Amino acid sequence: MKETILTITLNPAIDKTVRVDNFKIGKDYREKALSLSAGGKGINVSRVLNKLKVKNIASGFIGGSNGSFIKDQLAKEKIRYSFFQIKENTRMSLTVLDGKSKTITRVLERGPEVSPTELKSFRKLFTSLLKKSTYVIFSGRNIPGAQDTIYRQLIELAKRNRVRSILDTSGPALLKGIRKKFFMLKPNLAEAEQILNIKINSLAKVKQALYGLHNLGIEVLALTMGSKGAVAYDGKEMVVARVPKVKAVSPVGCGDAFIAGFIASFSRSKNLGQSLKAGACAGTTNALNITPGHINISDLRRISKKIKIKNI
Ligand SMILES: Nc1ncnc2c1ncn2[C@@H]1O[C@H](COP(=O)(O)OP(=O)(O)OP(=O)(O)O)[C@@H](O)[C@H]1O
Ligand SMILES: [Mg+2]
Repeated sequence: MKETILTITLNPAIDKTVRVDNFKIGKDYREKALSLSAGGKGINVSRVLNKLKVKNIASGFIGGSNGSFIKDQLAKEKIRYSFFQIKENTRMSLTVLDGKSKTITRVLERGPEVSPTELKSFRKLFTSLLKKSTYVIFSGRNIPGAQDTIYRQLIELAKRNRVRSILDTSGPALLKGIRKKFFMLKPNLAEAEQILNIKINSLAKVKQALYGLHNLGIEVLALTMGSKGAVAYDGKEMVVARVPKVKAVSPVGCGDAFIAGFIASFSRSKNLGQSLKAGACAGTTNALNITPGHINISDLRRISKKIKIKNI
């Protein structure tokens, strides 16, 4: 039976976070890692879906000792996965948190390169996973070796298998990915501005952006705006969610948590407003933690009471 939500992370990473107060360029620091976690945007979505008790499976490319670490980590967290094993080693990303200046500096490796044969075999694995899935969530950037049209191709495969696609990426893979009609897009402000080549700095511009994106043939849009909340549009209704002011520890992965919350709700309720509220709630709760996706259910319940939704 089709009941699983499939998350795709093409280029996962071990996320290493260190805290260095008064961080300066050109200096040496001897700090202990604060956390070492299985990272990647689709993995973050899976982690939050797990917290929300929604059946899901994480897939993408994985390889080498870093890949093994990620798989061990996912097994410990009881996140189901079915990754395609590649020859090269999965990447590691470094985040430096400066507790004094409250800044975050990130160094992101490019990641391993996949071969044409590996890509072809991945498509087979992906197609078999679609047979059990209701929704597929594509999160994060492309992996070296794959064409920028990769999401467009995978969305087409999903369509043929009657699986609804949700796309959350940026850069060239986003611009190429949207050249196809599909279920849902979740851009943040910068990504929406990139697609439409406009500056979104007012409510009128938010509306213009949502109409513009809907005209591309995307059924549901959720535009997330960090601490300013989010707006959703499905061609009939436009709903805005205002979120409470919180002591944000790290905004990394808020968009991933948003998608998990939104789809967890939408797959049950099919209601735009309720799903927007659930998404914004998961996103805001995620900002309270250092590690993406490690949300606390009691925080989630507390935040939920403070989220206001309104039709506009
Ligand atoms: N500082 C914040 N305070 C309160 N809520 C926040 C904050 N940052 C993010 N959120 C919540 O998370 C949602 C998604 O955030 P955002 O727009 O930053 O996503 P994003 O840029 O796609 O993030 P990422 O790509 O790192 O996952 C917002 O709609 C909001 O509900
Ligand atoms: Mg994002």
